[in-house]
Amino acid sequence: MERRKFFRNFAVGGSLLLTAPMLFNSCSGDESGGDNNNNNNNNTGGITVDLNSSDYSALKTVGGFAYKDDIIIIRSTDTVYLALSKVCTHSNCTVTYNSTTKDIPCPCHGSKFATTGAVINGPAASPLKVYSVKVNGNTLTIS
Ligand code: FES
Repeated sequence: MERRKFFRNFAVGGSLLLTAPMLFNSCSGDESGGDNNNNNNNNTGGITVDLNSSDYSALKTVGGFAYKDDIIIIRSTDTVYLALSKVCTHSNCTVTYNSTTKDIPCPCHGSKFATTGAVINGPAASPLKVYSVKVNGNTLTIS
């Protein structure tokens, strides 16, 4: 009797142990940033931005900028768009764009970055990550 109960409990416990990692894995989501719900990231061509969307109306003007996920998108000329990480490398504040000085200041502690991502002023010591941007009509593809 005791032996039979032991084996039954062992079987139930063992199957729970085997399925638990699958359950946790299925609930963990995609931590690589490949969330397809809102990013329009098809993992083959990068993140797409529809310039007709009101979310990106600032990009209709040269010098305008907008955010998409963790990226700041800057319209630097009529035909050129830049994309960089919007996360300051000093302490993770969100950077902005100054169209007059054509640089990327951080409002938190005064760091300033060039549109190449390079640090102009600290305290940030590392550059912003730069992404490539392809323009196809009213769609930007950032990768
Ligand atoms: S977080 Fe940007 S300068 Fe400190």
